[in-house]
Amino acid sequence: MSCWARITGSVALALATLTLAVSTGLAEDNYDLVARYVLETVRAFRTAYVLNVVEHVREGGIIPKEDWIKDAHAIPLPAQFVKAAGADLESFEIGLIGLTPVYKSNLPRTQAEIDALQRLTSDRSQKVISFVDGNQFKAMAADIAVVQSCVDCHNIHPDSPWRNYKKGDIMGAVIVRLNKHGK
Ligand code: HEC
Repeated sequence: MSCWARITGSVALALATLTLAVSTGLAEDNYDLVARYVLETVRAFRTAYVLNVVEHVREGGIIPKEDWIKDAHAIPLPAQFVKAAGADLESFEIGLIGLTPVYKSNLPRTQAEIDALQRLTSDRSQKVISFVDGNQFKAMAADIAVVQSCVDCHNIHPDSPWRNYKKGDIMGAVIVRLNKHGK
């Protein structure tokens, strides 16, 4: 092989590697951006639901409660509101998880999710953590007991395994799970 051919070959190989690295890198960045937008949107809608709906109708005697469906004077809990919206999605998932959840169905699904949730809980400077997990790209944001009622309800719920929440605690996380290759 001539020297020129060898150089051209190496350059082509280097370029191909670089292209692959850049495109993989970009794809990951894109997932990260999408995941962060989704998380921000979910949190914004949940906050708007709490502040504009839950707090508003409370004065009229309508309260959020778990079995709201049976009561014409009740509305869904904020967590149920998020879950109901999530149930209507097809190409990705949103949800709420916790290490000591009211329901086991809200436990992290994989070891990577457990690790990320533990990191969020132990280091409060980390607001959002994103990572690849199998064929999904995931991001989670800490869910904080911003008002006393978060704590009160979880501490007395018959199915809650943890009864020592305090205002300001990280109670879990909002999670988004994006499929890396479409549906
Ligand atoms: C009146 C009761 C009530 C209030 C108030 C409440 N929650 Fe919950 N929360 C629940 C129940 C019940 C579930 C489980 C719902 C389900 O999965 O269907 C839940 C689920 C969650 C989860 C998912 C993990 C788990 O524990 O199952 C998180 C995180 C959470 N809530 C955080 C909060 C935060 C933060 C607040 C305040 C902003 C709050 N909750 C207010 C009752 C409540």
